[in-house]
Amino acid sequence: MTADAEPAPISAEQREREDELVQRVLASFADTPDARLEQIMRSAVLHLHDFLRDVRLTEEEWKQGIDFLTAVGHITDQRRQEFILLSDTLGASMQTIAINNEAYADATEATVFGPFFVDDAPHVECGGDIAGGATGQACWVEGTVRDTDGRPVAGARIEVWEADEDGFYDVQYDDGRTAGRAHLFSDDDGGYRFWAVTPTPYPIPHDGPVGAMLAATHRSPMRASHLHFMVTAPGLRTLVTHIFVRGDDLLSSDSVFGVKESLVKDFVEQPADAATPDGRDLGGRTWSRTRFDIVLAPAGS
Ligand code: BEZ
Ligand code: FE
Repeated sequence: MTADAEPAPISAEQREREDELVQRVLASFADTPDARLEQIMRSAVLHLHDFLRDVRLTEEEWKQGIDFLTAVGHITDQRRQEFILLSDTLGASMQTIAINNEAYADATEATVFGPFFVDDAPHVECGGDIAGGATGQACWVEGTVRDTDGRPVAGARIEVWEADEDGFYDVQYDDGRTAGRAHLFSDDDGGYRFWAVTPTPYPIPHDGPVGAMLAATHRSPMRASHLHFMVTAPGLRTLVTHIFVRGDDLLSSDSVFGVKESLVKDFVEQPADAATPDGRDLGGRTWSRTRFDIVLAPAGS
């Protein structure tokens, strides 16, 4: 199958030689004890050879590809996972999420996890502030957690994390402090609420080979403004998602293809003199508020 240009014509003899190699490689997996592994390896080989033959890859281009993947490996360490970034920017992460999180009734849609989640983020009570010193405009976030039968889910664990107004997650600070992340639990009625900062756009790490790929293809590293959620509750499918800011110019060009229309929410700007929901004094600054009602599918659905 050809993505764009027609492949250069090749002789029947050449085609046969190439086909024969593909068949030999496929046959080499015949003794794989694990049937699923055999299926994956055969399919990967088939598509890889299709790609090589489709673009008639030159030996120089093959070497460039190997050098690129080598650089992706070299920059990857405990703190930076360039292979996941590559998967994200090629849409492979979102495709895997689509395959594994089929739509179920009105369950909230999933989106990309990203590299900035941290286990053991601090606990805040419902109504608390997850900003923890992250700079930005204060934002009141509230909603409910329900199952697909509409029943409130009490005690759901809600992890939230976000970048500050300069586009940095706390793990990118050099002083090791925790900010812009926390977990809380839904109350007896399934409700939850917290203060955060209004999400702003930021670039994915683009000083490595993935950034070079984006630059070479004239693609932007920018992510649309978002606030991450991971919601877990017994008997229900874990939801990894974000909410996005309606009106953000980057919604249609998110660098990791994470935006889904159902996740775009109104973040309503509030005047400085508007009373806050919990009476918090914001020192005369403007703030925003949004609502995100979360619906969890049954586990295993
Ligand atoms: C993020 O939203 O945190 C993210 C997702 C994919 C790649 C880089 C960052
Ligand atoms: Fe993010």
